Amino acid sequence: MISQSNWLRVTPSENIPSLEGRSVQIGGREIAIFNLHGRFVTIENKCPHKGGPLCDGIVSGTTVVCPLHGWRFDLDTGLAVRASLPACVTTFPTRVEDGVILVDIDHGSRIESEETAASSLAQIRLQD
Ligand code: FES
Repeated sequence: MISQSNWLRVTPSENIPSLEGRSVQIGGREIAIFNLHGRFVTIENKCPHKGGPLCDGIVSGTTVVCPLHGWRFDLDTGLAVRASLPACVTTFPTRVEDGVILVDIDHGSRIESEETAASSLAQIRLQD
C-alpha cells in the first residue's frame, strides 16, 4: 500500500539565508531546515549525542557541525561523519514551490549503516 505524502508549507524560502539553518516546530516534531546555496534540506533538530540544536551549527559543504561538541552530520543522509560512534539523524523530503518551502513530515527516513548511506547518497547526487 502506498502511503500518502503530507507536504506541509513551512516558510518562504527567503527566510533562511544561504548556508544557515532554522528550526521549526511542526507536526509534533522539531526540525531544522538548511539552505545549501538555494537547495533546501531538512533534518531533525536534535543531535543524537546529547540533543544539541543542529539548526545553530556551522554549515560546510553539505554538512553541519553540532554547536555543542562538534559532531558533523551529512545533511543529505543524516549520517554522522567521522564520529566516534555510529549515529544518524532523521532526514525529511523537502522541496520549494512558489517560493515556499514544503516538508513531508510523515516520510522522514533514518539511515542506520554507512553502506546504506553510500547508496542513498549516490541516488541523491544522481537526482541533483
Ligand atoms: S550534542 Fe551534538 S555533538 Fe554533543
